[in-house]
Amino acid sequence: MWCVVPAAGRGLRVGGDRPKQYLPIAGRLLIEHTLDRLARHPGIAGLMVVLSPGDELWPGLSSLRGKPVQTTAGGAERCDSVLAGLRALSPGVGEAEHVLVHDAARPCVRLDDISRLIELAGAGEGGLLGAPLRDTLKRADEVGRSALTEPRDRRWRAFTPQMFRRGALSEALREASRRGVTVSDEAMAMELAGHAPLLVEGAEDNIKVTTAADFALAEFLLGRTAP
Ligand code: CTP
Ligand code: MG
Repeated sequence: MWCVVPAAGRGLRVGGDRPKQYLPIAGRLLIEHTLDRLARHPGIAGLMVVLSPGDELWPGLSSLRGKPVQTTAGGAERCDSVLAGLRALSPGVGEAEHVLVHDAARPCVRLDDISRLIELAGAGEGGLLGAPLRDTLKRADEVGRSALTEPRDRRWRAFTPQMFRRGALSEALREASRRGVTVSDEAMAMELAGHAPLLVEGAEDNIKVTTAADFALAEFLLGRTAP
């Protein structure tokens, strides 16, 4: 199964001198950790990395652990990048075949969580890794005061990887785009198309490196979750 890796973001919230995927962490670039974990997984046949047009920082990998690494140019939003990655896959990857999508910014993903996602979601319409919400959830008013407490039952945080059939996911992303909806993950596009992706509980340490402070946490977790 191929894995599309959106890596065309600018990493604005980290505020570094380059997009966060190209910042060093634990001796390597952030994106190298992510790609290396994915390439180690026996169920992953190849990686389609989606880069921003004109990206000059990409280390030029064409294979990793014996698996092909290909690149294509992404778009303005994450969902545009994922769709570009799906399009760029070889015609040999059938429309009915499952593909994984995994954020370049999630280097701490555990291989056994990827295996569980493939095993549990592979039989049906697809699914995603996530975790049930643990904290009490507040709705803020305009001035940052707690206006009400939202129910927490059945609320999940969505992670990646997410796994769907190539054709169904492409169609769902295209349809969201036609409707002018910017979906924040693949599952949201599938929901809008009437599907109900399976939520597969994964480790909370599969963090999306988002702010500068996340680098210290990710460095710690990379040591702890070493494959
Ligand atoms: N991404 C992408 N194309 C975009 C936007 C994001 O491929 N147009 C990728 C990012 O590179 C990242 C993943 O999607 O691997 C998750 O996005 P996010 O964490 O929001 O990263 P950035 O958009 O780069 O960061 P920020 O929102 O802080 O600018
Ligand atoms: Mg972003």
